Amino acid sequence: MKKKARRFLSISDLSTTEIKKVLNLALKIKHNPKKYSNKLKGLTLAMIFEKPSLRTRVSFETGMTQLGAHAIYLGPNDIQMGVRETPSDIARNLERMVDIIMARVFEHQKLIELSKDTKVPVINGLSDLEHPCQAMADILTVLEKKKKLKGLKLTFIGDCENNVTHSLAILCDKLGMKFFCSAPKGYEMKKEVVKTLKNKITEVVDPKKAIENADIVVTDTWISMGDEKEKKTRLKVFPPYQINSKLMKRAKADAIFLHCLPAYRGFEVTDDIIDGPQSVVFDEAENRLHVQKALILFLLGK
Ligand code: CP
Ligand code: NVA
Repeated sequence: MKKKARRFLSISDLSTTEIKKVLNLALKIKHNPKKYSNKLKGLTLAMIFEKPSLRTRVSFETGMTQLGAHAIYLGPNDIQMGVRETPSDIARNLERMVDIIMARVFEHQKLIELSKDTKVPVINGLSDLEHPCQAMADILTVLEKKKKLKGLKLTFIGDCENNVTHSLAILCDKLGMKFFCSAPKGYEMKKEVVKTLKNKITEVVDPKKAIENADIVVTDTWISMGDEKEKKTRLKVFPPYQINSKLMKRAKADAIFLHCLPAYRGFEVTDDIIDGPQSVVFDEAENRLHVQKALILFLLGK
């Protein structure tokens, strides 16, 4: 019997040392991808998607190809987790056929069930609670652009009760970065995440205060997948949280702008910012590929 596998459902599943190891490996892979081209020869990744995706699907699938491995896409109509079969039964089938599983789900609980006692690693490809692969790519991008992490101020503005915000807050906490977030009342980070953080984070309602002197400015859609029915209400409260040139001016002059994408231009961010000189969003998207290759190698102990 194989021993229980590592899982990556949350940033908190890795120690600070392990996170740094994955980030360093990602940089090595990015600069010399050929060296890793046979590392996972003959292995297979199952990718379960309950929601749409561009970056997550393409980066995982391409990443596996580049490592000499293979990925299988299982879309919303294929396995219908929880409808056709329980997450646990799905895992007990998949672990006998594939070497690693990635899943994008609505409820985080499904990932917990999918990975419980599962003999192959399970990776969170986005849930309602976290988007840890995105946060790893974000911080890799910061490291490349700023050449350091410790002490930098990262400000997230917008919907803070958000998978991307939660993963970034935990990651900043582990890496000694200052985390600020700003949301309208009622859209703050989940308390269950805040209470796990070792260091104090700063949550302020006023985005102008939160962004002051930031090294990194981050936002995300105001309407995450699954929140569509709240669209009307959200569009009323979020406009003061738009990242535009007036707000961005309050950050440091050399601040960088990140967005996990897809971006809803004219809502959470204006064209001049996302297409402007401070934006690093496409480097950030590319880094999904490199950091996930590193993560997969790490989780498989290769
Ligand atoms: N950032 C991100 O996860 O993009 P997709 O939803 O396109 O995968
Ligand atoms: N918070 C967004 C991220 C999309 C990649 C969502 O969950 O839809």
